Amino acid sequence: MTGFSSAWLKLREAADHRSRNSDLAEALSARFQQREKVSVTDIGCGTGSNLRGMYDLLPEAQVWTLVDYDAGLLQSARTELCAWADKVSEAGDKLFLERGRRRIEVAFRQADLAADLDHALGNPSDLVTAAAFFDLASEAFMGRFAQAVAKRRAVFYTVLTYNGISRFEPHHPADNAVIAAFHRHQLTDKGFGVAAGPTAPSALFDCLQMAGFSVQEGDSPWVLGPADQMLMDEIQSGHAAAVAEIGGVDAASLKTWAARKLTGVTVGHTDTFAVAC
Ligand SMILES: C[S@@+](CC[C@H](N)C(=O)[O-])C[C@H]1O[C@@H](n2cnc3c(N)ncnc32)[C@H](O)[C@@H]1O
Repeated sequence: MTGFSSAWLKLREAADHRSRNSDLAEALSARFQQREKVSVTDIGCGTGSNLRGMYDLLPEAQVWTLVDYDAGLLQSARTELCAWADKVSEAGDKLFLERGRRRIEVAFRQADLAADLDHALGNPSDLVTAAAFFDLASEAFMGRFAQAVAKRRAVFYTVLTYNGISRFEPHHPADNAVIAAFHRHQLTDKGFGVAAGPTAPSALFDCLQMAGFSVQEGDSPWVLGPADQMLMDEIQSGHAAAVAEIGGVDAASLKTWAARKLTGVTVGHTDTFAVAC
């Protein structure tokens, strides 16, 4: 397992939501504007941030299936969504939420996308979505995934795929070496074979096109400053831990790199929207 903590996902949620590319969000919204109801499958859902980040782009009646292989995160998703909604009722495993004018039915599915993609995706839905997920995946998985989404005739929308741009302020002489080592760590297997890491957006674009989709992309960088100090600190310690594991930066340089107080961080992401041609 990749082992994402609910604390980390909570810490990044506000930055994730404000960073989404507004042109692609509008394209998604326009796509379903005439519909009264939409069904959505969110893969690698974590604690449900993607639902909270996009429910207001979709029609009033929504039926979501949240998919993750981590039972603890699925339980956190249930708890967080109940706290977020204006009104909640439950029937069996399902939640029925109201938030503003939206009525949102939510089911949870524990499934490993790498081991059984068909089971994880389940019955066709109108929209398959993901957030902060595809840089973990391999290009081979993306190929299978794109074909599976095409077979289900679904629209596809994913946000916040890391695209290799990292900048830290103030500058440190080891920045380039740390970023290069971090990218090597990103390519290690996260359960799908060699991960695409910083090349994920272009690999995903190609796989979707080959599966017959028309694909649009947009930037969605995290641009962080002093108001995001805890998130910047966590990014800094996460980079330092990954680099210490993969090697390539001497210990003394890495120590001073990790010790300086950051005043700004930019992390490049790409959002992707795809509809069948
Ligand atoms: C970076 S987190 C993003 C979570 C959430 N989408 C968000 O935006 O906060 C990646 C998520 O993918 C899930 N994941 C990773 N590999 C998976 C797999 N093989 N099958 C199902 N879920 C997986 C993790 O458990 C985690 O919840």
